[in-house]
Amino acid sequence: MGSILIRNAEIITMNEKREQLTGDILIEGTDILAVGEHLPCPTDAEVIDGTGRVVIPGFIQTHIHLCQTIFRGRGDDLELMDWLKGRIWPLEAAHDPESIYYSAMLGTGELIQSGTTSIVDMETVHHTNEAFEGMARSGIRALSGKVMMDQGEDVPLPLQEDTMTSLKESTDLLEKWHGYDQGRLQYAYSPRFVVSCTENLLKETALLSKEYQVRVHTHAAENQGEIAIVERDTGMRNVEYLDALGLANERLILAHCIWLSDREKEIIRDKQVKVTHCPGSNLKLASGRAEIPQLLDAHVCVSLGADGAPCNNNLDMFNEMRLAALIHKPENGPTAMDAKKVFQMATIGGAKAMGMEDQIGSIEPGKKADLAILNLNDLHMYPSYDVDTISRIVYSATRADVETTIIHGKIVMRNRILTTMNKEE
Ligand code: GUN
Ligand code: FE
Repeated sequence: MGSILIRNAEIITMNEKREQLTGDILIEGTDILAVGEHLPCPTDAEVIDGTGRVVIPGFIQTHIHLCQTIFRGRGDDLELMDWLKGRIWPLEAAHDPESIYYSAMLGTGELIQSGTTSIVDMETVHHTNEAFEGMARSGIRALSGKVMMDQGEDVPLPLQEDTMTSLKESTDLLEKWHGYDQGRLQYAYSPRFVVSCTENLLKETALLSKEYQVRVHTHAAENQGEIAIVERDTGMRNVEYLDALGLANERLILAHCIWLSDREKEIIRDKQVKVTHCPGSNLKLASGRAEIPQLLDAHVCVSLGADGAPCNNNLDMFNEMRLAALIHKPENGPTAMDAKKVFQMATIGGAKAMGMEDQIGSIEPGKKADLAILNLNDLHMYPSYDVDTISRIVYSATRADVETTIIHGKIVMRNRILTTMNKEE
């Protein structure tokens, strides 16, 4: 792999000092080699003229279900448990290796086109190997895993599995894919949610996550009906139960966290559990609104995710960022969730959730070259001197403004054309 020089662009670094500068970015192999003014151009470098363009760290979405991409629009206007039992589980049960591969390709294509370079993804019970093949081909950076679900009512036959099979298949996939392409793909154990998992499965998952030092990715405290089932079956609330089984630690990524008791908030804060906020999904499934400003005030690591395509009808981080900013304003005031906080959750916050803050989430020498190049020169984005670029991105940009996406030093979309889906490249 050669080098790439992006010249004369506005760069939103998201480094420690949050510097925004105009200059060049030199990429060598998978990494950023230098950021600065008038960098020398290696003879073999591909040069991208960044004049009038804005370069940002690629977005990091920490809760996605690629396997659900092709179910978009199938199951609107329902609440969580009815939606899972009536629509999502039967659809997941019907997946075959080919459909899951194409669902992953469609989803990753959509993510790359809207500037997302890394995801934390959850597949279904079967055919996860083919989903990994799709992720490998597309060029996305991902931490993904097979869903684990060894109990539950109204679960279709193809999604039923026993505890030992669930654990073994997960660990086999981990051994096959964790670390693929110099660490671009990684494995995360993915118990669906407490409702779907036996105590034994969750305890064993905690031990495996410790042994392999990998993330556990699950849903928690999303919906009041879900919480009532957990309380009925365990006598505890979601996060308390996960903690009692040894799962609440810095490797745990919890999607949603809308309905948290004070004790659950304390566990999340004290054990450094990572929270993924999914505002689009939370609105569409009528789940509620997570108290993100309060969690951020308590120094909890919060990042963003679109959830599956049927939860909000697109996988677009611009949509999630805008909703994340807007939904708190009526109750908590205009600065409760400002553009900078949201942009931080969408970039460096996601990197922290993945345990990769030393590798991704900002534009700095030594980090992986995961970037999106935006063209904000449309008339609707006409620059104004008193509006910060981050505000323009959060409140006005759309996926159509993403011109080029680079992941792991590779151009995966050039001038809106997905290069990895093109047979010639
Ligand atoms: N909780 C358990 N499974 C799911 C799922 O597939 N999507 C969402 N949004 N929540 C869940
Ligand atoms: Fe989800």
